[in-house]
Amino acid sequence: MANARVSLNGEAITAHRDGYTPFEARLTGRLRDGDNELVVVIDGSENPQIPPFGGRIDYLTYAGIYRDAWLKVTDRVFVERIKIETPDALAAKKTVLVDVALGNPQGLVLAGQAVATLRDAAGRTIATAGAPAAARVALRFDDLEGLSLWDVKTPVLYTIEVSVGRDSLVSSFGFRTVQFDSEGFKLNGRPLKLRGLNRHQSFPYSGYALGRAAQERDAEILKHELHVNIVRTSHYPQSSWFLDHCDRLGLLVFEEIPGWQHIGGTAWKAEAVENVRRMITRDWNHPSIVIWGVRINESQDDHDFYAETNRLAHELDATRPTGGVRYITDSELLEDVYTMNDFILGNEELGGNRPRTALRPQGEVTGLDYPVPYMITEFGGHMFPTKSFDQEQRQAEHVRRHLEVLDAAYGDPQIAGAIGWCAFDYNTHIEFGSGDRICYHGVMDMFREPKFAAYAYASQCAPDEEVILKPVTFWARGERNIGGVLPLIVLTNCDEVELKYGDYPPKRVGPDRESFPHLPHAPVVLDRRHFTSEELGLWGMEWLGASITGYVAGKAAKTVRFAADPVATRLEVVADHDAIGATDTVRVMVRALDQFGNRLPFLSEPVAIAVGGAGRRLGPELVPLRAGVTGFWVEATGSGPIEVTVTSPVLGSRSITLAAT
Ligand code: GAL
Repeated sequence: MANARVSLNGEAITAHRDGYTPFEARLTGRLRDGDNELVVVIDGSENPQIPPFGGRIDYLTYAGIYRDAWLKVTDRVFVERIKIETPDALAAKKTVLVDVALGNPQGLVLAGQAVATLRDAAGRTIATAGAPAAARVALRFDDLEGLSLWDVKTPVLYTIEVSVGRDSLVSSFGFRTVQFDSEGFKLNGRPLKLRGLNRHQSFPYSGYALGRAAQERDAEILKHELHVNIVRTSHYPQSSWFLDHCDRLGLLVFEEIPGWQHIGGTAWKAEAVENVRRMITRDWNHPSIVIWGVRINESQDDHDFYAETNRLAHELDATRPTGGVRYITDSELLEDVYTMNDFILGNEELGGNRPRTALRPQGEVTGLDYPVPYMITEFGGHMFPTKSFDQEQRQAEHVRRHLEVLDAAYGDPQIAGAIGWCAFDYNTHIEFGSGDRICYHGVMDMFREPKFAAYAYASQCAPDEEVILKPVTFWARGERNIGGVLPLIVLTNCDEVELKYGDYPPKRVGPDRESFPHLPHAPVVLDRRHFTSEELGLWGMEWLGASITGYVAGKAAKTVRFAADPVATRLEVVADHDAIGATDTVRVMVRALDQFGNRLPFLSEPVAIAVGGAGRRLGPELVPLRAGVTGFWVEATGSGPIEVTVTSPVLGSRSITLAAT
């Protein structure tokens, strides 16, 4: 990131003006006997010649070599690139087309065969196909029977290995179809409402520079904790580790070129067109990617520029639709899908006198008098920044806004889905954020600890995936304005929720379908509808502990208990994995918990973090808890166990050991 120049023994050998896609420099023919010196010079400044730079952007891009660097050894003729297509994925007898580009920098006369081997995920060979080696080779497999589809619940992958001589290259892929039309989105011919979040690839302390484990962990968090089915890689191509894991997990991806509002001059636009090429040729085999974003996020219309990005995207990949994210209405539709950031909710200026509106109907946005494929790519965010340590009432409104937009998207068949802004809080420039250069726009904080709004998404999954029961409260009498805890939103996929307050008779309440008719799982909202005025009066008089239980099919499925007098009881220190590979990183979360295991939201004590053995701490030694929590990453520096000790003046010390894998 962002401008790299590479020289070997003093001779310039390549340059790359894009911080988001890989590039190669050929050393062969330039190496000398003995030591060689390879120098990579990185200019991380926001060079206005290079997208996304030239204007102001609401995120940081950091600087340096932040992804993996490899020394790649190939034969003289090698497999440079493979593109795999599955033109009839839904047929009982399937076809696979493999377009192979061979590298032959010395211009040797090609001999022998290029051979493709199709294997299943367990590595068993299914079929092979071959053809004489040439600069481009088209290989195909026909009439493949008994193969499984790639889907969000069953992301079955296959691999193709292409070899020529002693050289080979492997890529995984899947059989699936995607379709956006004016009635929404279909995966494998079946309608699927898209429910997602935007992801920036940044982390606390390390910026962009976390490797495989952290990239994969983010995909797991999105899929298994937030239970979304799509992620947008706002606003640039993200790590292949992340995308590979989306393939494995069955998490759909909207990938887009680098950019943010600003469109530069002719050379800049030419670079952006090259970004389309680099993104698509790197990523066309990922079954998880369902749409290419080929506009600069939230830019104005620019006919020639976007006609070209669309043309190129379609030429390179005829199997996926294009989108281009805008916030303007009546924009020229050059893409296959009109993808819109709809910030109407709570926007007085845009909203005029209309009643509170979650999303506009597509016709109002597109200005077209016929329906088109249409998807919401952002909402929320700067319209209602919310910190994990904000007052409960504000966090409840944050939750409500995410729910309202999701409900509106579910309720409108002409909206393919909605992708909220955004998954994680992120560092930004001073023109944005809360003055501390942080945009608190996430449904999780920067460490990926959920705020309440995270459960607006999570609770939309089926209870057999995970039972979600998250009351939007810290259960404190005086935290809200005027006091009390009503209305109390319980984010849940349970059929009913029972509240027990002290020894008062329990209340059982079902989902609030009045307010949220369309969500797969409407929250339970306990409010004045459920209490007599006498009860409400009593509530103000005393303060007791409570428990909330969720019921699924008549059975208690989950209970949350709240203490009337929460006290700091336990320091929790948990790593994402017990073991760590050499050079990998692992996230460790630290939480101050009360007697019932609830986070103490306003305990802002410092904790000291010590890492010993074969690892090092990424980040400072002494940090405050925020909302009762903090996190850090540990990086392995060799092989051997790593000792992590966290010490709090209130809660004492806790140690964990990470084994070497
Ligand atoms: C959008 C933009 C995002 C982010 C968001 C904040 O306008 O595309 O990058 O800045 O606003 O809500």
